[in-house]
Amino acid sequence: MMTKIKVGIIGCGTIGSEIAKACEARLSGFFELAALCDKDEAKTTAVAGLLKKKTAAFSVDELIRQVDLVIEAASASISAGIVEKCIKRKKDCLVMSVGGLLGKESLLHQAATAGIKVYIPSGALCGIDGLKSASVGKIDSVTLTTRKPPKGLEGAPYIKEKNIDLGGIKAETVIFEGSAEEAVRGFPANVNVSAVLSLAGIGAKKTRVRIVTSPEYTKNVHEVEVAGDFGVLSARTENVPSAANPKTSALAIFSAIATLEGIAKSVRIGT
Ligand SMILES: NC(=O)c1ccc[n+]([C@@H]2O[C@H](COP(=O)([O-])OP(=O)(O)OC[C@H]3O[C@@H](n4cnc5c(N)ncnc54)[C@H](O)[C@@H]3O)[C@@H](O)[C@H]2O)c1
Repeated sequence: MMTKIKVGIIGCGTIGSEIAKACEARLSGFFELAALCDKDEAKTTAVAGLLKKKTAAFSVDELIRQVDLVIEAASASISAGIVEKCIKRKKDCLVMSVGGLLGKESLLHQAATAGIKVYIPSGALCGIDGLKSASVGKIDSVTLTTRKPPKGLEGAPYIKEKNIDLGGIKAETVIFEGSAEEAVRGFPANVNVSAVLSLAGIGAKKTRVRIVTSPEYTKNVHEVEVAGDFGVLSARTENVPSAANPKTSALAIFSAIATLEGIAKSVRIGT
């Protein structure tokens, strides 16, 4: 029988709790959930209560010591620090708060030197497979167009800075156009999608982002366009928000679970 990979989850919120449940269901043949961690004790207690096997809560450092694979589903403020600790302890990790890695790409080189794996799921975005293949040749441009209802942009630093009256928007309007690096600063809530795209392709300075809104929109839609030697690809994802946290799309949760499955399975389909 195959030895199961021991995993620990840091961040027991919307994504973390679904991964925990999957470890006892879809992923149970390959993974053993060995440790939980959250800054809010009530969250680890709640997730432990969903599980058949008794699973204890640990500090970040202790969890990293206990497991083979660390799953970060907590916050962009700690994701880079977790990768750093995993490098030191030679543990593989899966990172959901990808925005926290932008500007710290050197960590990914350090991980390669240390011989650990860093898994970054596609998240709520489709088209990453094609972009990875296209990167073998020359890429001319990568553009992300994100369409969100005005409510989904409320509170973004860029909206405040430019004094944009979201309530006054009556028709489809381009709110922002710039690099992924600028988008991440102006719209931190879109950070993960832009970060995954930037890391998979031509980096945050060259990746272009457009943010469009309209009172008619009801879903968060991401459109990726890539042009290069291979030709042109466009991929459109209409995301349904997860019931527990409307900021997190259901596909982001599924993508983490599918990435874990990919780690364990012997057949890999897709780039
Ligand atoms: N890659 C993607 O496509 C994608 C998509 C959605 C969300 N995310 C990111 O994944 C992360 C988790 O998302 P979620 O929807 O589960 O969020 P959530 O708010 O539902 O859960 C986050 C959990 O992490 C805990 N936490 C926060 N800071 C912590 C810390 N310093 N130490 C320990 N625990 C901490 C919180 O208490 C909470 O229980 C977020 O950073 C989010 O931005 C990524």
